[in-house]
Amino acid sequence: MERFTFPGWANRIPALILGLLTFGAGYVAVVGVYGTAPTTINVGYSPKQPIEFSHKLHAGTLKIDCRYCHNTVDHAAHAAVPPTKTCVNCHSAANPDGTVSLSAIHVKSEKLLPLHQVQASGEGIEWIKVHDLPDFAYFNHAAHVTRGVGCVSCHGRVDRMDQVYQAEPLSMSWCLDCHRNPEPHLRRDEFITVLDYVPEPGEGAAVMAEKGIQPSTNCSTCHR
Ligand code: HEC
Ligand code: HEC
Ligand code: HEC
Ligand code: HEC
Ligand code: HEC
Repeated sequence: MERFTFPGWANRIPALILGLLTFGAGYVAVVGVYGTAPTTINVGYSPKQPIEFSHKLHAGTLKIDCRYCHNTVDHAAHAAVPPTKTCVNCHSAANPDGTVSLSAIHVKSEKLLPLHQVQASGEGIEWIKVHDLPDFAYFNHAAHVTRGVGCVSCHGRVDRMDQVYQAEPLSMSWCLDCHRNPEPHLRRDEFITVLDYVPEPGEGAAVMAEKGIQPSTNCSTCHR
């Protein structure tokens, strides 16, 4: 019987397969790490801000409501970051004649120097964005906070943060997990900005029924 002999080039097949496998694994790793918009899925991202503004102090200790500063969250897509004027309500610089108004808290603070400088020049403070979805994804704050989803579900315990960091992934699967099962996240309107509030048993179900909550999972809801 004649035996089949592999041609000479067949010796290179194992090397070729190995090469392809290595390339494939590398490709998967690169796409996995960089392919999913790194600035979005960035739990823990916490840029240093131009002023050391502390939520732990202002929202935690002083208990200033989130909406005093983020005053568009319940009627607009974007949650406005407060203008200099809002800070100046409590932190104005000394007057030109050297007198200090009653509402000028910590008027000599080094930390507030950048604020006092822009108060004079009228420019805004360049706060650095912490949470940032890619432009092809549509998000709307009012659609959530008027329907019973509290800030804490998406931003974590901001009232304990000296410097804000991203607490949740903001990935598509994270959005969809809640859209498929929102009940555990829903609370009564008066607790939307109360970050340490834990909903009562049955509260989510009641809010869901009363408001007729039915989050959409259609692509066009978030990609328009
Ligand atoms: C006294 C004003 C003030 C209050 C009160 C306040 N914030 Fe803020 N918030 C700011 C300022 C200023 C920034 C921008 C600087 C920074 O990120 O720290 C900010 C940033 C944020 C960010 C990050 C925004 C981004 O760039 O992605 C979140 C989230 C946030 N605040 C949530 C809250 C929540 C939740 C509350 C209520 C528990 C709250 N804030 C109360 C002033 C305030
Ligand atoms: C409703 C009043 C109020 C508003 C509005 C407010 N703050 Fe304050 N802030 C305070 C009080 C009160 C303290 C001091 C707390 C203490 O020392 O115990 C403080 C402390 C600070 C400090 C620390 C100063 C130091 O030297 O220790 C900084 C920085 C600061 N605020 C920045 C800001 C910025 C920026 C804004 C606007 C986004 C702002 N605050 C808005 C009341 C306010
Ligand atoms: C369902 C999730 C969700 C809830 C609830 C939510 N946020 Fe956000 N927030 C986001 C996302 C996502 C972004 C990033 C939006 C973007 O990049 O377009 C964001 C961004 C922000 C910003 C930066 C400005 C902006 O609009 O991009 C602030 C400030 C903020 N949120 C404050 C709040 C406060 C205060 C509350 C509660 C009253 C709240 N958020 C409730 C998900 C949420
Ligand atoms: C913790 C729960 C939760 C998370 C997380 C969440 N959503 Fe929602 N979303 C809801 C609920 C509840 C509604 C209101 C549904 C209703 O009114 O019936 C809603 C509504 C919406 C709407 C409004 C749809 C309309 O008809 O106007 C958009 C857009 C949306 N979500 C986008 C997003 C995106 C994008 C993300 C992720 C970045 C996200 N959501 C994360 C719970 C959530
Ligand atoms: C509830 C909101 C929501 C719905 C519904 C939704 N998406 Fe997304 N999608 C997002 C968000 C937010 C991102 C951005 C996440 C990121 O940067 O990784 C995204 C990212 C994507 C991406 C880019 C993937 C990547 O890794 O960058 C594609 C493709 C996509 N979505 C397709 C779809 C399709 C197809 C559907 C319908 C079956 C859909 N989405 C439904 C919120 C949604």
